[in-house]
Amino acid sequence: MSSYVTDSLIAEDIEQYLALHERKSLMRFITCGSVDDGKSTLIGRLLYDTKMIFEDQLAGLEADSKAMGTQGQELDFALLVDGLAAEREQGITIDVAYRFFATEKRKFIVADTPGHEQYTRNMVTGASTADLAVILIDARQGVLTQTRRHSYLVQLLGIRNVVLAVNKMDLVGWSEARFREIVADYQAFADLIGIKSFTAIPISGLKGDNIASLSAASPWYQGPALLSHLEEAPLHESRMEERPFRMAVQWVNRPNLNFRGFTGLVSSGQARPGDGLRVLPSGKTTRLKEIPGMGGSAALARAGQSVTLTFEDEIDCSRGDVIVASDAPCEVADQFEATLVWMGEAEMLPGRPYLLKLGTQVVTATVTAPKYEVNVNTLEHLASKTLSLNAIGVVNLSTDRAIAFESFEDNPALGGFILIDRMSNATVAAGMIRFALRRSQNIHWQALDVDREAHAALKNQRPKVVWFTGLSGSGKSTIANLVEKKLHALGKHTFLLDGDNIRHGLNRDLGFTDADRVENIRRVGEVAKLMTDAGLIVLTAFISPFRAERRMVRELMAPGEFLEVWVSTPLEVAEARDVKGLYKKARSGQLKNFTGIDSPYEPPETPELVVDTVTLSAEEAADRVVAALLGAAER
Ligand code: ADX
Repeated sequence: MSSYVTDSLIAEDIEQYLALHERKSLMRFITCGSVDDGKSTLIGRLLYDTKMIFEDQLAGLEADSKAMGTQGQELDFALLVDGLAAEREQGITIDVAYRFFATEKRKFIVADTPGHEQYTRNMVTGASTADLAVILIDARQGVLTQTRRHSYLVQLLGIRNVVLAVNKMDLVGWSEARFREIVADYQAFADLIGIKSFTAIPISGLKGDNIASLSAASPWYQGPALLSHLEEAPLHESRMEERPFRMAVQWVNRPNLNFRGFTGLVSSGQARPGDGLRVLPSGKTTRLKEIPGMGGSAALARAGQSVTLTFEDEIDCSRGDVIVASDAPCEVADQFEATLVWMGEAEMLPGRPYLLKLGTQVVTATVTAPKYEVNVNTLEHLASKTLSLNAIGVVNLSTDRAIAFESFEDNPALGGFILIDRMSNATVAAGMIRFALRRSQNIHWQALDVDREAHAALKNQRPKVVWFTGLSGSGKSTIANLVEKKLHALGKHTFLLDGDNIRHGLNRDLGFTDADRVENIRRVGEVAKLMTDAGLIVLTAFISPFRAERRMVRELMAPGEFLEVWVSTPLEVAEARDVKGLYKKARSGQLKNFTGIDSPYEPPETPELVVDTVTLSAEEAADRVVAALLGAAER
């Protein structure tokens, strides 16, 4: 993305530029529509009318327009915005580009997001902080499927200001009847999805009618012009000012022992020195002492400001905590219903742990299979087992720790989150909390008097999980079986969980898709965990092909309790053995998703032990495992 005219602004001048307009309020908005609707032309026009195009670039544009064979007097503003020639040829714009302009009253950041269906994730990215959305309609086409899709997303993302820009009015002879018809059509749809109000404006992006000022071409339209509306529409921030005080702690500022300040962005409400505060999730309370700043203490911290707060009392508070008004705290929970927009190239895997980032809180979260997926074109609810790129669905989500939150609708800063893949670090979903599940408040961990230490003590051993992983036919079950016999002979209390056996009972409902394998290991991990609570040494023999799930099980256990044993056998060797005849079936196509053939195996990177079954006999391998498991002292 190098040839955007505004790049020169974005890089060095943006700070200067924003500083110049510092005292003006800032509006962020998105434009939704496709190239055909004239979106790029409209953005180019806004930049032009607010004089953001410089003379030399203007000259270049004129030359470009001629080269592209643009007729007549108008400059082709789309050329200005569409940028790269390759994209122009393809006729689509990809990724989100941000552009800046300002009027007398306000400065603006507009996120230009592509309209094509496969780019839902870009739109979500661009819209996540928007105050307003301009939905573009080609007057000749009227309300299209994509108009509905964009509007649904706008509504989903909590943007309350919607402008329906009915473009290319010049091409329908500035027909008032056509305009009214489109507005009525859109109204019906808006009612359906819960858009409470919108402002419809007839425009011509190409000619500039009703953009900077009202046009003589539409005497029947009383206004406002698009730019005046953008200058007047309420900002998200002003809505947040009305709500109770919330600030997510970004960092603790502790220059010396006498000062401890908590720095963050106030997402809603306001607080003054003396006000009661509560730190979540702990719930500890104190009072606001001071709001120190560059030019002395401030009297007030309010929504939209980055501030440092000090407390009257020395209570625990660190990054990831949320400081709230003590008399109007937000909820704390660990199970939610949420809407997810899937952005990962790989599909969602129910049961797999992802990192969840909500404000400054980072926790581990797993999602259930979708309750339903939404067809964004028809708004139908579809049954679905997973979500793939650009899909939207409603899921249950549980986190490993309780987090402070609000519903996305009430406060996007405390209800909006992203999910991150722990292996690749890629953002795989954007999510919006709808509400906490009541069970998360009503199911409490029962403290038991005969606890895991008591169970283990009676058995005179330390509970452990010995997790064998490797290809089918590598020898996991054989070695695990020998290890159990040896431990039993040593008087240890053990239990062996074996893939083939568990799949006959507990996991009878699971097959061999990635999603089912994830769930298989999740359940086995939980069972193994319960068995260690009972004081047992648990042996497991599952292919467990994915690093993510093996790591999840590891993290369920106490440090030092989990022993990952990689039964390392080359595929050729396992296949040559083919004890169950499954490789043959897989090769002939009779068996699908077979590990090593058409389903992946991710070898452990740092297992506690590797046993090579080419050089070791099963007996020798088992001896090594026993030795690794029972240090001399414990034997
Ligand atoms: S895992 O991948 O989910 O960990 P698990 O260890 O429970 O697999 O089950 C593997 C056993 O199931 C194999 O040893 C084999 O006997 C049998 N099996 C049947 N179909 C498949 C398949 N498509 N891929 C791998 N194993 C299969």
